[in-house]
Amino acid sequence: MADELKRGLEGVLVAESDLSYVDGEVGKLVYRGYDIEDLARGASYEEVLYLLWHGSLPTAAELDAFAADLAAEREVDDDVIETVRALAGAGERPMAALRTATSMLSAYDPDDEADAGEATLRQGRRITAKIPTVLAAFERVRQGEEPVAPDPDLSHAGNFLYMLTGTEPDDVSEETFDMALTLHADHGLNASTFTAMVIGSTMADVYSGVTGGIGALSGPLHGGANQDVMEVLHEVDASSKDPVQWVKDARDDGRRVPGFGHRVYKVKDPRANILEEKLRDLAESSGDTKWLDYTTAIEEYLTEQGLVEEGIAPNVDFYSGSVYDSLGIPVDMYTPIFAMSRVGGWIAHVAEYQEDNRLIRPRARYTGPEDSEFVPLDER
Ligand code: CMC
Repeated sequence: MADELKRGLEGVLVAESDLSYVDGEVGKLVYRGYDIEDLARGASYEEVLYLLWHGSLPTAAELDAFAADLAAEREVDDDVIETVRALAGAGERPMAALRTATSMLSAYDPDDEADAGEATLRQGRRITAKIPTVLAAFERVRQGEEPVAPDPDLSHAGNFLYMLTGTEPDDVSEETFDMALTLHADHGLNASTFTAMVIGSTMADVYSGVTGGIGALSGPLHGGANQDVMEVLHEVDASSKDPVQWVKDARDDGRRVPGFGHRVYKVKDPRANILEEKLRDLAESSGDTKWLDYTTAIEEYLTEQGLVEEGIAPNVDFYSGSVYDSLGIPVDMYTPIFAMSRVGGWIAHVAEYQEDNRLIRPRARYTGPEDSEFVPLDER
């Protein structure tokens, strides 16, 4: 048993956690016991952060103080903005720019010398507050616009949309984006959270953990899938192809359909249900049903083909991109937005794990040669 090999750590329990639970058989997600539906519809992202970091939902007074503390940390040093400009000028990809800028933020953290563990939540709050500022600045500069300074009077979601566009968002946009942030905030030991935990388990600082988490999230098997889904929808649209034909061609070529399948969910991801409903509302009020029509057609086709029954069902990324598109957010910012939300979960897991820390250090089964005879360089 001790030597049983679990590829991809599938099904392996490595920690106890009070933070979130994913029931992949019935399609249920809870944060500290609260159903994701209730949180997505009833709680702000700030409330969810408080819940994850401090263990319970805040009272109104606790929320006011928490939100004000978070908002007070939004500004980033000019040097970071200059680096963001340089990265945008060099054509850097948004996730890579976010990774570099997040790492740089530690240079301006007043707790830079503090002990990891003790400082995790304090520094985590600063990182969470500053990531939207970095991302919005990157996008503005890329568009040839000047960054917009954060507004401490706006919510986390509202302020990001404001910094991105220079205009205060309407209520529907702010609520929609806030819901998306809540839906992505935590999800058990997914690859990026585990990455952050592995780094945190060495008692490295939380900037290192978050920077590693961003790297892990950027891959197409994880957070990068939301961008891939939207690229498919755009490709379908540009070629006037039937979306179902795109899926047939992809499957004939042995390609995976982005936004489908999950390591834990064997049924449709509950977050996909919530986002689909949101997309339906947005499409009905705008009259633009194009993305809804395409995604529905793809889901119906794959359901008919028996894929969904086999457990390869829509995941959160299948509908999130269409919702972001309705907010005017560029496609390659979708994964960074995922990071902007998931940073809350990364920090919560690192802080929780460090309370009873044990270095994470698995083993590999050695399959290399034995007794290799060393030959000096000049004799090889
Ligand atoms: N389209 C077609 N077939 C699929 C898909 C898909 N999207 N996903 C899995 N399969 C098939 C796969 O080919 C394999 O079939 P077979 O056993 O015949 O070779 C079987 O399902 C099992 O796949 P797996 O790769 O062993 O399963 P996994 O648990 O390692 O993969 C996954 C999970 C998310 C990497 C995979 O489903 C996938 O690549 N999906 C597409 C990318 C995607 O949407 N990622 C977002 C995940 S959810 C958000 C997040 O975590 O960031």
